Amino acid sequence: MFRALRIHETPEGFTRTIENMSIDDLPQGDLLIQVHYSSLNYKDALSSIGNRGVTKNYPHTPGIDASGIVLESKSPLFQEGDAVVITGYDFGMNTHGGFSEMISVPAGWVQKLPSGLSLKEAMMLGTAGFTAAMSIAEILPYLKQGGGDVLVTGASGGVGSLAVKILTHMGYKVSAPLRREASKPFLESIGVKGFIPWEDIEGSKKRALLSAKFDASIDTTGGDNLAFALKSTAYGGAVTLCGNAASAEIDVTVYPFILRGLRLIGIDSVMVDSEPRKDLWEKLATVWKSPLLEEGIKELTLEELPEAMDKMLKGQHLGRVLVKLRD
Ligand SMILES: NC(=O)c1ccc[n+]([C@@H]2O[C@H](COP(=O)([O-])OP(=O)(O)OC[C@H]3O[C@@H](n4cnc5c(N)ncnc54)[C@H](OP(=O)(O)O)[C@@H]3O)[C@@H](O)[C@H]2O)c1
Repeated sequence: MFRALRIHETPEGFTRTIENMSIDDLPQGDLLIQVHYSSLNYKDALSSIGNRGVTKNYPHTPGIDASGIVLESKSPLFQEGDAVVITGYDFGMNTHGGFSEMISVPAGWVQKLPSGLSLKEAMMLGTAGFTAAMSIAEILPYLKQGGGDVLVTGASGGVGSLAVKILTHMGYKVSAPLRREASKPFLESIGVKGFIPWEDIEGSKKRALLSAKFDASIDTTGGDNLAFALKSTAYGGAVTLCGNAASAEIDVTVYPFILRGLRLIGIDSVMVDSEPRKDLWEKLATVWKSPLLEEGIKELTLEELPEAMDKMLKGQHLGRVLVKLRD
C-alpha cells in the first residue's frame, strides 16, 4: 500500500483527500517508480478544483512532476535503482501523477537524473525550471553574451523565479513588475534589480508602444504583463510566453511587430522530445545551476498541499513548493 493525494468529484464539488492505494490501482506503465519528491505547479492547482482543460476524469491524483528511484523496469533503457525525473506529457493530467508515493509510467516520459542534481534539487526545478530553461534558450540568440536587460513577469512564481535565478547567474540584469509590495524582499533576494510599479503596467494599456527598455522578455502570466512586455522590448528583440496566470488574452496592436521587428515565441514544455529535453536538463544541472536555487523553496507534505494550492490559485504564493514523499 502507498499514499496519494486524490481528487474526487462529488455533488458538493471537488474534494482533496490523502488515501491509501495499492500498486494494482496504478496504470500499467513500463516503470514502477518510488517517488521521493514532487513539486506544485499551477496546473496541479487547477486539476485539484476540477479544471477540465487539465484533467477530464475524476477521481484523479495530480502532480505533473516527480523524481524518484526505479523499482521495476520493463524497458531496456532503465534498470532497477536508476534515479529519474518525470515532467511533461500526460503525467499528472489524465494519468496518475506525482502527489503519490508510487507511480507507474511509460519509459518515454522518463529522464535519467543528471549527475549534477539531487532528487530534491530536480524537483526544486521541475516543470517550472524546465519551462524557464526553454524560455531562456529561446531568448539567448537575442541577447549579448553575459549582459543585457531582461524583463520577467510573474517573477515571484515558479517559472518566473527560476528564470530570474538562472538569468542573474548568467550575468543579465533582470527587471520585474511589482504587483504585490510584499514580494519585493523575495524578488531582491533572487537578484531582481529593476521593479516596474504595477500602476505603470495598468497605466500603459492604451499605449501602442512604450520606451524600449528590455533586450528580451519572458512572460509567464499573459494579459496586461504580456502586453507591457511586447510594448517595452527593444528593436529586434524577443518575448516568450508560456502561461495565463493573469489572463489568456492580450490587448496589443501590430506595432511592436511591424515597427520593432519583435519576435513572439510560444513555449510548450509538455511535448518536448527526449534529446532536447535531456540537453536542457543537463544545462540546468551544470552551467545554468543557480547558487540561489534553494532560495524561496518551501518543503511541504501531502497533507499541507491543499492549502498551498488555494494560495496559488489566488495568486498569493511566492517561489516554489517542493513536496516531500520520501528522503
Ligand atoms: N507552457 C508551458 O509549458 C507551461 C509550463 C509551466 C507553467 N506554465 C504556465 O505558466 C504560468 C506560470 O506557472 P507557475 O507554475 O510559475 O505559476 P505560479 O507559481 O502560480 O506563478 C504565477 C505568477 O503569476 C503572477 N500572477 C498571478 N496572478 C496574477 C494576476 N492576476 N495578474 C498578474 N500576475 C499574476 C504572480 O507573480 P507576481 O506576484 O510576481 O506578479 C504569480 O506568482 C501558469 O499559467 C502555468 O500554467 C506553462
